[in-house]
Parts: sequence; structure tokens; C-alpha cells
Amino acid sequence: AYDAGPYLPRSGGLDAYRRAAARCQGCPLYENATRTVFGKGPESARIMLVGEQPGDQEDRRGEPFVGPAGRLLGKALEEAGIDRDEAYVTNAVKHFKFTVTPGGKRRIHKAPDLREISACRPWLLAELHLTRPDVVVALGATAGKALMGSSFRVTKDRGALLRMPGAEQGAYVVATLHPSAILRASDKDREAAYAGLVSDLSVAAKALA
Ligand code: URA
Repeated sequence: AYDAGPYLPRSGGLDAYRRAAARCQGCPLYENATRTVFGKGPESARIMLVGEQPGDQEDRRGEPFVGPAGRLLGKALEEAGIDRDEAYVTNAVKHFKFTVTPGGKRRIHKAPDLREISACRPWLLAELHLTRPDVVVALGATAGKALMGSSFRVTKDRGALLRMPGAEQGAYVVATLHPSAILRASDKDREAAYAGLVSDLSVAAKALA
């Protein structure tokens, strides 16, 4: 089975894990992606934000949420009173999965499947273990499943203060829409979807206070 486990270092801090993750071949996604995009932020962060996987821009630049979805997220965080520089930002899957348009002009995001999410999970668990945040925000279904289990439904449990299951208990999880879903929403739906994101992030901010 696909598994990042054998690629994890036996000790060290975030930097050691980041260096090791750069060489991960735990699933086939490393073959077409440019690089591993590991999480970014202080080890002392009290809040962690978990997205799905790097997008086109993130794959080029090597940092999470630096493209259009990242800009929207930054604005929503500010409105919710969360300082992005004090948050640890990462993704459930650390390589960009995509298809290429006919002619090879554009790389189109493809959702990771459960095997890839589960293969990459040791990196996410290591990040949780090293930073020990008080609140983890799951941005979208993939992050929700990676943190809460494969039967988790964001649409059902978004905006609620949930307990992190398993070994990483102690922390709260708040699930919300993925910022990309807001960018994709119709003009008519976008404003309400964005307000929902800010409102869910505010639940996370309140749990920190
Ligand atoms: N979407 C994600 O889920 N993560 C990123 O880092 C960028 C876009």
C-alpha cells in the first residue's frame, strides 16, 4: 500500500521533517509534482490550518496557500481575527495532483483519493505532534477526512467545535468550506459562502481566546 511512513525521520523538529518530506516517494504523486510542499509556520503555533493539497502556484513556489485560494484565505483569516503569521498552514496531501489540458497548457487540480490521503497522513500527524496546536481548522472535505476519518462530512459538521479523535486528542477541530469552493461558487452564491467561511473561522478564533 502507499505509505509515507518509511520516509519519516526518527527524530528532529519541523526542519528535519521538512527535509525528509522533500524526498518522499510514499505514493506516486511525487512523480509528476515539482516538489513536496510541506507545512509552514511557527512550531509554537496555537492554530493549524489544513487544506487539501498544493495547487499549481504552491507546487511552483514550494509553499502552501500562496495562490488565489491562499489570498482568499488570508482575507477571511483577517476578518476572523486570526493572524496568519502565527498559524501553521499545511495540507492533507503534500504533492500536487493534476491532469494536463490537451495541448499541455494548463495543469488542472485533481482531488486526491483516499489511498493518497492515507499515505500522506503520517506527515500530517507528525506536524500535529510537533506543533501541538489547540485548534485545527479543516479546510474542505479532504482535510476533514484526514483529521476525523473517512466518513466525515464537512457539509454536516462544519462550524462546530469538535474533538480531535485518536492519539492527537486535546485539540479541537473546526471544519469549514475549502476556499477554492468559494472561488468556484456562482456569483449569486459566493458572498454567502464567503461569510460562512469567516463565520466558521471565527468559531476557531473564539476557541483560542
Ligand atoms: N488549495 C489547498 O488546499 N492548498 C493549498 O496549499 C493551495 C490551494
